[in-house]
Amino acid sequence: MALKKLVAGNWKMNGLAADLGQLVEIARAPAECDVALCLPATLIERASRAAPNFAVGGQDVHASASGAHTGCVSAAMLQDAGARLTIVGHSERREAQHESDADVRAKASAALDAGLEVILCVGESLAVREAGAAVATVSAQLDASLPDRPVTAVAYEPIWAIGTGRIPTMDDIAAMHAALRERLVAAYGEAGGAVRLLYGGSVKGSNAAEIFAVPDVDGALVGGASLTAADFLPIVAAAN
Ligand code: 13P
Repeated sequence: MALKKLVAGNWKMNGLAADLGQLVEIARAPAECDVALCLPATLIERASRAAPNFAVGGQDVHASASGAHTGCVSAAMLQDAGARLTIVGHSERREAQHESDADVRAKASAALDAGLEVILCVGESLAVREAGAAVATVSAQLDASLPDRPVTAVAYEPIWAIGTGRIPTMDDIAAMHAALRERLVAAYGEAGGAVRLLYGGSVKGSNAAEIFAVPDVDGALVGGASLTAADFLPIVAAAN
């Protein structure tokens, strides 16, 4: 099934009010695919005011609705600020914040319950890739991270491809996405066929068309190249 592509940007810990002009330019550009930007929490409200019909998202969410969780943001808070979606389970959080598959699952559930769309990230380390265990490892990670109800998208982000300029071969992306599609269908039945599978890791204007042509690649999750309209819009154009 050909799904409508989703090109989502992840600004990570980048972006001040002065950078919202980039978001407005991205929001105004014509697109046949879905486009979203996941911003630092501090920018979400201003971004959703600056571009009211554009899909603005968070980069993480707490699994609890409220309470004594200093520094954290709940799904209701993201929505209140104007977010439509959130990323969960990014490898940078799995590593630096020690988030487990169970944590990611709980976050995804909380976000879906609140009515947010969810992009759930999975991906292997270089050691796992070199040991020939990437597909088995990432499949198991996905199985353990998926909530009971379908997420909007799953992003396959090989950790060694993030911010490095290195990407897997198209055959490796195809093999991984086919395996993840199988897991999604096993988890959700027919609805698993409608979950978009994004590739993430050093996606640029120069490689996006080739990546989007791979079977079961339904879009991209883009880090560095999502920070400016000049870098991001060619990726959106490649998906159109
Ligand atoms: P880069 O596009 O900078 O490699 O980052 C990918 C990523 O981590 C998106 O979530």
